[in-house]
Amino acid sequence: MTKVAILGATGYTALELIKILLRHPGVEMTALTSREETAPVDQVHPSLIGRISLPMENLSAKEVASRAECVFSCLPHAASAAVIPELLENGVKVVDFSADYRLHSPEVFKKWYEVEHPDANRLGKVPYGMPELFRKSIISANLVANPGCYPTTAILPLTPLLREKLIESRDVILDSKSGVSGGGRKPKLNYHYPECNENITTYNVGKHRHLPEINQYLSMAAGTSLEVIFTPHLTPMDRGILTAAYAKPARTNITQSEILDVLRNFYQNEPFVQIVEHLPGTKEVAFTNRCHITARVVGERIMTISVIDNLIKGASGSAVQNFNLMFGYEETLALL
Ligand SMILES: NC(=O)c1ccc[n+]([C@@H]2O[C@H](COP(=O)([O-])OP(=O)(O)OC[C@H]3O[C@@H](n4cnc5c(N)ncnc54)[C@H](OP(=O)(O)O)[C@@H]3O)[C@@H](O)[C@H]2O)c1
Repeated sequence: MTKVAILGATGYTALELIKILLRHPGVEMTALTSREETAPVDQVHPSLIGRISLPMENLSAKEVASRAECVFSCLPHAASAAVIPELLENGVKVVDFSADYRLHSPEVFKKWYEVEHPDANRLGKVPYGMPELFRKSIISANLVANPGCYPTTAILPLTPLLREKLIESRDVILDSKSGVSGGGRKPKLNYHYPECNENITTYNVGKHRHLPEINQYLSMAAGTSLEVIFTPHLTPMDRGILTAAYAKPARTNITQSEILDVLRNFYQNEPFVQIVEHLPGTKEVAFTNRCHITARVVGERIMTISVIDNLIKGASGSAVQNFNLMFGYEETLALL
């Protein structure tokens, strides 16, 4: 049994994580933290009643490390990297849900997150927790940077096409729609029911914090520095992300079946990425760790459409996939 602690256990991603870990035969949850909440976790998250009743506790990094071999940090950016170094020093492995270790440059982090990085020396040395692309380095890692939800829907479909030079690296446009749980549990005005119900809004055009993460990993795939246009939308649904990506073909006469074949070959052994013929919707992957991807040739553009559940493949599901790799479990264990 692997002893596991969860930081920020009152949050949305933590709830999904607990539900997945309850199905995991190799996991014992030993600590759940919150800064203020002291009630048992099933009082905070009633969907857990009858399944787990550990108390929430305000624990130091040292106390957490004394109880766990693996810590899932479901904290916001900067709060996460403030405690992770001490956890690592105490011999614990960590899967970090925040953006703290995803970017390689402390300057880029400061520009986008508007704080000094609390653990800048580690940047660039932490594997990005996308097993489909970085499995080997995840297996041997003590710390993994779990990907952002929007970046997952951009990087999975576009990486094979950039690597195979089927699309140009210039002028890639990402049009993304997300459910409201993407913003977390803490109330904010634009997530308030009368604001977001029956409404679709565009937000953070050209300045969403996932933009540098998408650019960094797509640049690695392209072998050259690229900058995408990324337009996120908030949609009136609880969960799910759909991203439509538009790119210029790198040569003439590229067909839809050629693109689908490249994607199928690339992901043929991946349990959680399916290349589909139809136009996928978010409901078909809801509550699963799956990403469905298709492609079309439309006019003079190649288009990909990808869907995930932001809380599962976009957060807690991929975190457990990473945990399974780091601790030698079967990669798909406990995951749907
Ligand atoms: N929501 C998504 O779809 C999604 C997807 C991918 C990644 N992520 C990332 O995953 C992390 C958790 O997201 P979430 O949606 O679960 O957020 P959330 O629902 O807001 O939960 C975060 C939890 O962290 C604790 N917390 C907040 N501020 C803190 C601070 N300054 N110091 C220590 N603890 C603090 C809070 O617990 P207490 O107030 O009880 O202490 C809160 O419940 C974030 O880094 C987020 O960016 C989220």
